[in-house]
Amino acid sequence: TVVVLDFGGQYNQLIARRIRELHVFSELLPHTVSSDELKAKNVKGIVFSGGPKSVFADGAPDVDPAIFELGVPILGICYGMQLLAKRYQAEVKRGHVREYGRATLEVSSEAGVLFAEQPSHQQVWMSHSDAVVQVPEGFQVDAVTPSGTIAAMSKPSAGLYAVQHHPEVLHTEYGSAQLNNFLFRVCKCKGDWTMESLVNSAVATIRRQVGQERVLCALSGGVDSSVAAALVHKAIGHQLTAVFVDHGLLRKGESEAVMSTLGAQLGIDVVRVDAKARFMDKLLGVADPERKRKIIGEEFIRAFEAESDRLGPFHYLVQGTLYTDIIESGTATAATIKSHHNVGGLPEDMSFSVIEPLKELFKDEVRELGQVLGLPASLVWRQPFPGPGLAIRIIGNVTEQRLHIVRETDAILRDEISKSGLEREVWQYFTVLPGIQSVGVMGDERTYAHTIAVRAVSSTEGMTADWARLPYDVLERISTRIVNEVPEVNRVVYDITSKPPATIEWE
Ligand code: XMP
Repeated sequence: TVVVLDFGGQYNQLIARRIRELHVFSELLPHTVSSDELKAKNVKGIVFSGGPKSVFADGAPDVDPAIFELGVPILGICYGMQLLAKRYQAEVKRGHVREYGRATLEVSSEAGVLFAEQPSHQQVWMSHSDAVVQVPEGFQVDAVTPSGTIAAMSKPSAGLYAVQHHPEVLHTEYGSAQLNNFLFRVCKCKGDWTMESLVNSAVATIRRQVGQERVLCALSGGVDSSVAAALVHKAIGHQLTAVFVDHGLLRKGESEAVMSTLGAQLGIDVVRVDAKARFMDKLLGVADPERKRKIIGEEFIRAFEAESDRLGPFHYLVQGTLYTDIIESGTATAATIKSHHNVGGLPEDMSFSVIEPLKELFKDEVRELGQVLGLPASLVWRQPFPGPGLAIRIIGNVTEQRLHIVRETDAILRDEISKSGLEREVWQYFTVLPGIQSVGVMGDERTYAHTIAVRAVSSTEGMTADWARLPYDVLERISTRIVNEVPEVNRVVYDITSKPPATIEWE
């Protein structure tokens, strides 16, 4: 195991995930973990991650000093580098330089093994304002940026390495090579961890946690909850009952598809609850995105509680929460971006204990896990769909008529993407109803009707995304069909914003 200590950066779980990609098990732990706990885990390496604070700030997160006595190699990244520098009394300047985004690294010819077999000039992704201006005694400078800023340092004899850039993001050209060198040349890891090992350990953990109790699973029909259900089913079989709450905010044909494919293909009893009226009632007149999310999250749980009373008792509730849902909903050290319905939206007085077997994983890892569990490709490769459903694709009030417009336009978009064979290339695609009307002319008549925004993005894990460069002819077919087939719409626009600064969904 190589552990990543969390100092609150948005990309920290990504470090753990990149390490798992290199077949070494990795998990993210709070920076407050004690050296004894690390010793008990028999860790082979420790990564100090990035974080939003300055090491000089009051209450700046630090580690148990005994960690330095473990004799386990340490890699400091960004904040982690400054923490190492501070610990060994190097000079760190506050707000000395502000480097954000792409930078060129000039690697010293004497650089340590982290940079072995890599070019001397490479592109990296930076995001910092404090900088190490003089390395601690016994350390060497491994790389600088053109401004002369120290970008990497090491003390190989002590197993200490540090980089100012983020090797975990794909914009850092040789980031994976650097992590690889840390794992195999410095920590001497074996690299024999696989997704199957994750299934086995998750199954064991779930069995231990659940014992003989019965478990209720929240099934949305999406990839995450299906994989979570399959995993829990593998662990405890008939102790699991899946409940599919149809909140009426699903895509066209989805409810039927969930019942026909999931019930049969997963071999699990799926109970469908028609909660449409109840959700529409609660959402009546609600326009604020965060309130919509909270209401939907709460109603979900209430609907489950009602089923639990009817079919139960159940002690546990399985949710397909992913790491991205957690990090963006805000953690002890990271900022809140939006409340994902299955995290921040949960009411505090819930009567279930929650099991979230995927909460440390990213979407593409979950897909891989689904394949290992033998789920059909049609299910594993479904595009992500948010728990709050079409409600967060309607800006402002959710009404039956507005739902009808997004549902019909979304169906056309999906059909055209499918016909053009782009389904696997594009991470996610959907339509949004911004709630504005504009003037048009159709058949010599003036129209005053809705605008539909088409959103299509490429991404690997949903944390960052770029707008998809859909071919013009595909866009044209989508636009023509939407305006011709959905009379409430007379204009189609294409969203060309990446994430950040926008998010994938509009709310
Ligand atoms: P954003 O909009 O934050 O979305 O860029 C990132 C990914 O997460 C999906 N998403 C959600 N998934 N519950 C979910 O299960 C939610 O509340 C939720 N909100 C957004 C979104 O569709 C995208 O794939």
